Amino acid sequence: MIKAVRGTRDLLPPETALWNSAEATVRDVFRAYNFHEIRTPIFESTELFSRSVGEETDIVAKEMYTWEDRGRAQSEKGQSLTLRPENTAGVVRAYIEHKLWEWGLNKLYYIGPQFRRERPQKGRYRQFFQIGAEIIGPASAGSESPARDAEILELLATLLDRLGIKGWSLQLNSVGCAKDRAAYNEALRKALEPVVPRMCVDCQRRAVTNPLRVFDCKVPEDQPIIETLPRISQFLDEPCREHFQAVQEILKSVGVDFQLDDRLVRGLDYYTRTAFEFTHGALGAQNAILGGGRYDGLSESLGGPQAPGIGFAIGEDRLILALQESAETVQPKPDVFIAPLGAGMDREAARLARELRAQNIVAELGDETFRLKKSFEAASRLKARHVLIVGENEVKAGAFALKNQETGEQISVPRANLAERIRGKQ
Ligand code: HAM
Repeated sequence: MIKAVRGTRDLLPPETALWNSAEATVRDVFRAYNFHEIRTPIFESTELFSRSVGEETDIVAKEMYTWEDRGRAQSEKGQSLTLRPENTAGVVRAYIEHKLWEWGLNKLYYIGPQFRRERPQKGRYRQFFQIGAEIIGPASAGSESPARDAEILELLATLLDRLGIKGWSLQLNSVGCAKDRAAYNEALRKALEPVVPRMCVDCQRRAVTNPLRVFDCKVPEDQPIIETLPRISQFLDEPCREHFQAVQEILKSVGVDFQLDDRLVRGLDYYTRTAFEFTHGALGAQNAILGGGRYDGLSESLGGPQAPGIGFAIGEDRLILALQESAETVQPKPDVFIAPLGAGMDREAARLARELRAQNIVAELGDETFRLKKSFEAASRLKARHVLIVGENEVKAGAFALKNQETGEQISVPRANLAERIRGKQ
């Protein structure tokens, strides 16, 4: 038997109804904040991710699905391509490629699959979905302002509340600007020197290539050592400190609660200044329901103009898991099961279905070879609210037997009144 590949999964009804309704709420909220949708390709050139997310990150070093193109054109041959592990890099690439700075401040959102070769477990998959948003534009359009950081965080609080997610908490940090990070990395390198031989091999490598990434280490024995390392908060310069302070003040004024966590450095290299995660208790080990932060300098590092930006991505699979904790999913039921009775009745049933569906009635169709009993069984299995019988006599009379499956009442209804009757209004 061929099964879905490890770490991927089928999303089945009725769960898909929950995904759709969550996405509809998300789109409404994005609309209220004037975000517009962007759809970037599922695969991009590998270089895009190594230059933005960073060579030393777990994502780029271990988790990407990369292959060499066997393209027909000479220029395509041998090009290294990667299934996107995240969407910020693609959005910034599109920003540069389409000169989106000409629009001023861009507020873009996306909903779609991402791919990382991680060890699968509850809430962690190899194909997973993200709902994300980015604000990016020239500094002159206000993209650098702490007001944007606070707007993003307040949007997230509103979104989670609107979705009915209870018990989330926001962890907030500032990872400073490039200059602060250079000084911090130097300090980390020094602090790590005497202790690193006692740490895992990944940390030994990170200590040399990118010491900040030591904070991504999950090895329990390394944690007491990591606890003793200097913190980024001690290295912020005055403008970064003020920016962070301003973000916190707006959050307090709009009533969004947060906790400061100066160990939070995030697992991607492009972050500057504000970095954050929202966690949710019901998710177990994979408790980060979303993460994000500011990435001033990312556009320049990809060959674009100066374009400070900030954004986030919600793990949609985890969001749905959290929603399932609080609500039971019910499969929406069809309004009517149309039961053609006897030869030639499929045609009539199809016409009726077309008429009813055009009036937004959810209709299921049977088959003229079914006996009436079999049609009723099929209708019950689907939990249809009504059964509509379409036999030769009904067609001739222009009125059809309609049985309400909940009350058991059966009446004859003229064709013109069917939709209203099924909808429950006379
Ligand atoms: P990230 O923290 O790598 O950030 O991912 C964001 C969220 O995606 C995580 O908090 C988690 O909920 C979900 N996620 C990540 N990996 C998996 C997985 N294997 N299975 C299920 N869910 C997962 C980013 O991707 C950044 N691009 C966010 C961002 C946007 N920063 C600025 N703009």
